Amino acid sequence: MEITITKAKELKPKPDESKLGFGQIFTDHMFNMDYNPEKGWHNPRIEPYASFELDPATMVLHYGQAVFEGLKGYRTEDGNIQLFRPQENFHRSNSSNRLLCIPEIDEHFALDALKQLLTLEKDWVPGAPGTSLYIRPTIIATDAFLGVRASHTYRFFIILSPVGAYYPEGFSPVKIWVSTRHVRAVRGGVGEAKTPGNYAASLYAGEQAHKKGYTQVLWLDGVEQRYVEEVGSMNIFFVIDGDLITPSLNGSILPGVTRDSVLALANLWNIPCTERRVAIREVMDAQKDGKAVEVFGTGTAAVVSPVGLIKFRDEEVTINDNKVGPVTERFYKELTDIQYGRAEDPMGWIEPVC
Ligand code: COI
Repeated sequence: MEITITKAKELKPKPDESKLGFGQIFTDHMFNMDYNPEKGWHNPRIEPYASFELDPATMVLHYGQAVFEGLKGYRTEDGNIQLFRPQENFHRSNSSNRLLCIPEIDEHFALDALKQLLTLEKDWVPGAPGTSLYIRPTIIATDAFLGVRASHTYRFFIILSPVGAYYPEGFSPVKIWVSTRHVRAVRGGVGEAKTPGNYAASLYAGEQAHKKGYTQVLWLDGVEQRYVEEVGSMNIFFVIDGDLITPSLNGSILPGVTRDSVLALANLWNIPCTERRVAIREVMDAQKDGKAVEVFGTGTAAVVSPVGLIKFRDEEVTINDNKVGPVTERFYKELTDIQYGRAEDPMGWIEPVC
C-alpha cells in the first residue's frame, strides 16, 4: 500500500528541550489508516496533526475497544534518528488486537509507516540528555453503535510527542505503595494486553497512592493478593543477594519490551535471573533480614526506574538506603547507551531511521 503524504501548511514552533515533561506536546504530522470489512486496512496517510470528529455513539467511547503501544525515537550524538526494538511493539500490538477482537495490522507495513512519519518529523526528535520522541500507535473502534459487540470499523493512528523523564523524580528512587484493596487485572482477563481499560482500572488506587505521598502503586495478583504483578505503568524487578527476579508472565502482566531487554542483558552478563512468582512478603522480609536488595521498574516511558521505598499495609521498608543500586544503574546505563547509540548493540536491537 502506498502512503499518501499531505504536509502541514504551517509548522509549530519547537519546544524548549529543557521543559518537555511527558506527553504534553505533539508534532506537526500524524499517521492515519482505516479499517472496514470490505477493504481491510486501507487509506494509509500521513497528514497534519488534527483532532478527530467522532459520532457520540462511537464504540470506543462506550466500551473501550482499543489498543495502544509506546515506543521511542532517539537522536544519536551524530544527529541520526533510531528506534529500539520497534518490531516488538507492533508484534505486541497484534497480541493485544487479538484479545480485543481488533483486526491485526501488517507489522512490517506499520514499521515502514512509522519510519516515513519519523523521517518527516525528524526535527522534532530532541537531542538534550534524557529526552526522546515518544511514539504512540493506537487503534480505536469506530462504529457508531450502542450494542455490545466488536466494532466493524477501526482507525489506526500514530502520534509523536517530544518528552523528557516520565517521573518528576527523573532517575531518583520512587516511593511505591502496595495496593491491598484494588487489583489491576486478573488472569483470564485482558491484563496482558495494552488496552486503555487496564489503565482506567489503575486510576483509583493511583490517586490513593498520590494522596498518601507515593509515586506509584505496586499491584498484587488478583486472586490471592500475595504475589507481585507490576508497578504503575512498569514491570518490576528485584535483586536479592545478587539474583535478579521478576514476576513470570502469567496472563495478567504486560509483556514489556524493556522487561524482555533487561532479561536478555542479564543472560548476556551471566547475572542469575529467574522469572517466577514473587510474594510481597518475600521482598519485605529480604529487606528486613538485611539481604542486599534492589528494586526497579522497567518500561518504555520510564526506562529503568529505581524504587527507594515500599509501603505494604502498615510496614514500610527503605530499599538500598533510598539510593540507586549498582545493578539498577548498570541496566539503566547499558540500555540508554544502546538506545542513544553510545554503546555497541550486541543484540541487534537498533532500527536506524534516518
Ligand atoms: C510506556 O511505557 O510506553 C507506557 O505505555 C506507559 C504509560 C505512559 C502508559
